[in-house]
Amino acid sequence: MTCHWLAPDMTMRAADYCALLEAALSFKRRYPIHTEAVLHGRTIYFLFHNASLRTRSSFQTGLSRMGGHAVVLDPRHGIYTPALPDAEIPYATERIADVARVLSSYGDAIAIRMYGEPAGWVYGAAHRHLEAFAQWSDVPLINMECDRFHPCQALADVMTMREALGELPGRRLCISWAYSGSWHKPVAVPQSLLLAAVKTGMDVTLAHPPAFALDPHVMQAAAQIAGQTGASVRVTHELPAGVDGAHVVYAKSWCSLAHLPKRPGESVDEAAMRDVFERHRDWRIDARVMQGAAPSAGYMHCLPADRGQEVSEDVIDGLSSWVFAQAANRLHAQNAVMAHLLNPGCLA
Ligand code: CP
Repeated sequence: MTCHWLAPDMTMRAADYCALLEAALSFKRRYPIHTEAVLHGRTIYFLFHNASLRTRSSFQTGLSRMGGHAVVLDPRHGIYTPALPDAEIPYATERIADVARVLSSYGDAIAIRMYGEPAGWVYGAAHRHLEAFAQWSDVPLINMECDRFHPCQALADVMTMREALGELPGRRLCISWAYSGSWHKPVAVPQSLLLAAVKTGMDVTLAHPPAFALDPHVMQAAAQIAGQTGASVRVTHELPAGVDGAHVVYAKSWCSLAHLPKRPGESVDEAAMRDVFERHRDWRIDARVMQGAAPSAGYMHCLPADRGQEVSEDVIDGLSSWVFAQAANRLHAQNAVMAHLLNPGCLA
């Protein structure tokens, strides 16, 4: 059976996830720059429906350093847009089942980023798009961020915390919503991070105004995993209560699931979405907020950050900021993911 990297935060057993985390850290120490061509001659197709700096650059750089070859396909202009049967347009789209089988016959993996507008902002639609690819692909499918999960980011996040804090069980992570002038950010990052963190045994406090609750299925899964690993999950609607005593403050913006369309063809309730954002402009991380965290606590953000809105300049550029180590780990985390999928023996 083909092994995919679609929703590992949900589906991978905690012990296997932690083993991959340790393997990724060891792989990084062994190969800080070039590997011994562990993916020599391998080709991966990258389809970006959304903008990207880190994911695009780190995947291509990492694959190249491992001796492989990246083919970047623009799903909106360069190829016929892959589509599910209910969204097909003659000679403009091509059925996902066909695209997946064709690309599988040429190369070694398919990686896709899709969330938000390309899926009509219907929560879960982008994830179903990736699931359809995985169903028809004979080679591994890599999720480079959909509307539910961003597993490559989450692996880099836990790598960064593991490097900074040592053993993670018992460490306190605050995942907080933060204000942004844009509502267009999916819930993928906090959801994958929450699941990854409880797999590693961390005590997580999720802080957000009531309108920014995460997917209840993800919350349920996080609670279940926490029960197995000794982690804990707590929710607060007060930012200072979330930050209080945290070893890591991971604060970023995400949209309100309540104001997204429920069905294809419906629209985002933009007025309600903007209103709920503007009512919480004070959810911003600055030096005063960070004082409530544990001594030497780190600030994390997946980037791109809205400076002055989600976080003050002095925090993101200050000594407590781990964001650039975190961004750098995207490359190492993804190298481990690609090796795990295409040449697992080299991770041993
Ligand atoms: N964090 C992240 O995924 O960055 P990009 O959107 O630049 O890829």
